[in-house]
Amino acid sequence: MSKQFDVIVIGGGPGGYIAAIRAAQLGFQVACIDEWKNEKGGPAPGGTCTNVGCIPSKALLQSSEHFEQANHHFADHGIKVSDVSIDVAKMIGRKDTVVKQNNDGILYLFKKNKVSFFHGRGSFAKAVEGGYEIQVAGSANETLTGKQIIIATGSNARALPGTPFDEVKVLSNDGALRINAVPKKLALIGSGVIGLEMGSVWRRLGSEVTILEGLPTFLGAVDEQIAKEAKKAFDKQGLKIELGVKVGEIKTTDAGVSVAYTNAKGEALSLDVDKLIVSIGRVPNTIGLNVEAVGLQLDERGAIVVDGDCKTNLPGVWAVGDVVRGPMLAHKAEEEGVAVAERIAGQHGHVNFNTIPWVIYTSPEIAWVGRTEQQLKADGVKYKAGTFPFLANGRARALGDTTGMVKFLADATTDEILGVHIVGPMASELIAEAVVAMEFKASAEDIARICHAHPSLSEATKEAALAVDKRTLNF
Ligand code: FAD
Ligand code: NAI
Repeated sequence: MSKQFDVIVIGGGPGGYIAAIRAAQLGFQVACIDEWKNEKGGPAPGGTCTNVGCIPSKALLQSSEHFEQANHHFADHGIKVSDVSIDVAKMIGRKDTVVKQNNDGILYLFKKNKVSFFHGRGSFAKAVEGGYEIQVAGSANETLTGKQIIIATGSNARALPGTPFDEVKVLSNDGALRINAVPKKLALIGSGVIGLEMGSVWRRLGSEVTILEGLPTFLGAVDEQIAKEAKKAFDKQGLKIELGVKVGEIKTTDAGVSVAYTNAKGEALSLDVDKLIVSIGRVPNTIGLNVEAVGLQLDERGAIVVDGDCKTNLPGVWAVGDVVRGPMLAHKAEEEGVAVAERIAGQHGHVNFNTIPWVIYTSPEIAWVGRTEQQLKADGVKYKAGTFPFLANGRARALGDTTGMVKFLADATTDEILGVHIVGPMASELIAEAVVAMEFKASAEDIARICHAHPSLSEATKEAALAVDKRTLNF
């Protein structure tokens, strides 16, 4: 006898667990199935984000930033420290504790919201009248029936053809977050978000880091002026980024890994390192879902085909997060999860793709929302730009971190904000104001006229808005 639910969510990452909670809030009987296992084989809901993504990477970025500060910046404040050393095992242990707190937090939220959690792999068995039968295999072996199914099965790291991850020497994000000693030499392939964040962690801890990037431009999706400023900072830190390379054969040796590549000048080179992190993007994950049993449509990348409302080709089946089109970001997955739960309840859930913020948690941080200058040019939009450097911001001087700037792009006629781009301290927090402003269709003048606390980094946001009208007060 199968257990009956109104809504069954397959996948307990940020897309799935949030969808499950919202559906339960709306009065549905909800099940959430997730297969992630902790080291003891127990449940570890939260998906990539919690276990091997957002949360652990930020924990390591924080630890390594403290180490960097102690080594290179405390002295500026008159603080003398000597013999600073890093206990990598302790740092990784702290990261694991942070992850576990988040896993436990989600299990608590399921209880609080009366979501039934099943630990195991969920797969389609068959379509039944008014819904679908879902098989759970794992710690829980059950058959569930749901009227509505939300798929949130996430993504996996993309491997280089012919070079599978061994997670000892050739690492995906998973192994990269479990390195147990500072590698003397580390290479990363791909200078995208993971390449820069993970490269920064191990560079700060003392590795000689080289990032090999296939494209000739650095951070092509980022506003060019911001990317240039960030690159300058990374170069100064000693993060070696080689653009326009073609990666050749990769051989694991007793000592480590040997990476053959051709550089932008066409020279054939090789790099011998202790460890290699491959961070060349991620692929949607539908492994084990048994989509064939019900005829669920996938595209040529393996992503589940959905419309603008996250509806699949099957009635009553929805998909959200990394397993569908759009940016692979935790907050995008969450917003889609909420919107789908609300649509199932007959409400009008909505995700505004134009105001999804992006953040790269390096130092300096890089954050943006809306269109870049190069996109506006390509779209033929007439715009005004205003920038304000942190160098002229009192709080940034007090913090001792004056790298970077805030940049506003506004419509030349209406002054509506079209994009905000930040490189500098706490960009991840500052971008929230820009997101709110864009959601409310604010003009640059609106931000320029709002009172911002002094001294705060947010004054740089106000000043960049003033700069759109060429009337900065402090620069
Ligand atoms: P996932 O988080 O991948 O969750 C899917 C879940 O479904 C997993 O638990 C999986 O085990 C489970 N599952 C899959 N198939 C089945 C099945 N058949 N049955 C049962 N369970 C199944 N994004 C940000 O916004 N900010 C960041 O700072 C950030 N940092 C990142 C750092 C790294 C190193 C990585 C790799 C990613 C990072 N991301 C970040 C991206 C973010 O992790 C993803 O966008 C997000 O996790 C996607 O959520 P999701 O719910 O779609 O999928
Ligand atoms: P990415 O798409 O950000 O970057 C991949 C990079 O690898 C690109 O610059 C690409 O040009 C390059 N590349 C691809 N194939 C290559 C090859 N054969 N040789 C050399 N270079 C090659 O992907 P990444 O860094 O793996 O991260 C995956 C996703 O995870 C991100 O796109 C993002 O959605 C998410 N993420 C988000 C974070 C955040 O929000 N702070 C942090 C980390 C990941």
